[in-house]
Amino acid sequence: MQTLKEILSAHLRAAFQAAFPGADLSGLPLDALPAGDEAFGDYQCNGAMAAAKVLRLPPRKIAEQVAARIPADGLSARAEIAGPGFINLTLSESALARHLEAMQADPLLGIPQPGAGQTLILDYSSPNVAKPMHVAHIRSTVIGDALKRIHRALGCTVISDNHLGDWGTQFGKLIMGYRHFLDPAQFAAAPVHELERIYVLSSQKAEADPAWEDQCRAELVKLQAGDSENRALWRKFMEVSLADLARIYGRLGVSFELTRGESYYHDALPALIEKLQALGLVRESEGALVAFLDDEKLPPCIVRKSDGGYNYATTDLATVFSRVEEFRPDAIIYVTDERQQLHFRQFFAVAQKAGVRTPLRHVWFGLMRLPDGLLSTRMGNAIKLDLLLDEAEKRALEIVKTASPDMPASQQQAVARAVGIGAVKYADLSQNPQSAVTFTWEKALAMDGNSAPYLQYAHARIASVIDKHAERFPGIDFMRVPLDLDTPQARRLALRLARYPDAVRDAAEQEKPSLLADALYDLSQAYSSFYQNVPFLKADAGLRESRVRLCDLAAKVLRHGLDLLGIETPERI
Ligand code: ARG
Repeated sequence: MQTLKEILSAHLRAAFQAAFPGADLSGLPLDALPAGDEAFGDYQCNGAMAAAKVLRLPPRKIAEQVAARIPADGLSARAEIAGPGFINLTLSESALARHLEAMQADPLLGIPQPGAGQTLILDYSSPNVAKPMHVAHIRSTVIGDALKRIHRALGCTVISDNHLGDWGTQFGKLIMGYRHFLDPAQFAAAPVHELERIYVLSSQKAEADPAWEDQCRAELVKLQAGDSENRALWRKFMEVSLADLARIYGRLGVSFELTRGESYYHDALPALIEKLQALGLVRESEGALVAFLDDEKLPPCIVRKSDGGYNYATTDLATVFSRVEEFRPDAIIYVTDERQQLHFRQFFAVAQKAGVRTPLRHVWFGLMRLPDGLLSTRMGNAIKLDLLLDEAEKRALEIVKTASPDMPASQQQAVARAVGIGAVKYADLSQNPQSAVTFTWEKALAMDGNSAPYLQYAHARIASVIDKHAERFPGIDFMRVPLDLDTPQARRLALRLARYPDAVRDAAEQEKPSLLADALYDLSQAYSSFYQNVPFLKADAGLRESRVRLCDLAAKVLRHGLDLLGIETPERI
């Protein structure tokens, strides 16, 4: 199904072409954009200004010609000219209603499928194993998971890959820590905790004592060279850490198609280096092997260190080749925090020089500030994720108990889990990813603001309207009554609903789940005003069903949209 924006933009383009046959208008921005101010209509087009240079005519003249050719029987009832040459479109209520009915009947809710036939690899979460999770990994996990769901909704085949840091320097420190500091009873009781403890001790010692640091490095080299004792320890650390990660992902409702850590590519590294050498892309410099990126105005990228070790970029290069060969993706997207921008620019440049044609994109985000006590600066912004989620569920339980004191306790718990986890995710997803976020409980759990509980509550309330209708008017199928957008509130809500498919697409194109969150919030606000000003169940038969039908679509869209953000929608709160 075509989206509102697609239909209107196609009308505009056709009208431009009909008004100026023979003119080459390709490439000009003639699209319909949601109007900033509803006083000027529902959509606007700035194309007349863009076309003025090509057509050598004043934009207002162009706009008049175009407006006169917008089909009057289409979606837009009115095309008006404003200012220097804006074309403002106002939709016809009946055409809008028919559009929504089609959306409601479509199992895809009117979401276009531009991704059909495309394969995308999404690389996100990717924490460093056996180390506490950094605050950046939670954002990567939540944003990456939402992007996966959004791209899938648009028809894409998405392969998510958790590129674990499971082969790096932390293992040298862990091995040394394990041999010297381990408390076996603690390790048996709470293995991840004990690993974190010995990791911290060992890294602190490495900072103070260069000899210790050398020993750690030597253990890492032994591990990577295949030393059987160190490999056995590594497997033990991995087993413990992966089980803990699986638990955390379970709590967050996140899953991956692949979990191929850096270790997976270890054996491919020597051949990769040979390939880069054969292509003449790298040369020796101070003992290291380096790709110079002067043409790209980037600092050199080291692919083999002077001690013979490989690094982060080497593994990422091997990973790209492996992914391209195995999956033939149409794009690979990496989700990390902003501090890695240079790394990605460098290794993308080397990959392209080495013949990778697959578009590689780095989606980066700013860091998140958390409330006191949830971050351990001693361990370098390591996040006490369980504490954050526990606290979120605890606070959510208070909200649920207040809203539904009569709900059975076990259901209250389940709802609190959905609300608490949803609140944490939404606090992150609703922000422009490229800005630094400060997390506060007040904002995350606000019942009257842009938060998950607010949207979940709106959804539950709408769902209850539909239940009540079924209860009071059994056997009356509201889906058989046409939608009638007879009030300004209904019209406004309808417009927000009709824009939903475009919001999904915008979120994917700009890799910003926040655009989807904005659309859902807008929608809930429009619903609120509809709900407060327009009677549903007390309205006359017919009108009543039409209004309940609009509620049904609102509930569907909210549920769908929150699901794309990885947020559950309990039927009751
Ligand atoms: N493990 C890395 C870190 O914690 C993130 C990996 C991101 N993905 C990648 N292919 N480089 O910083």
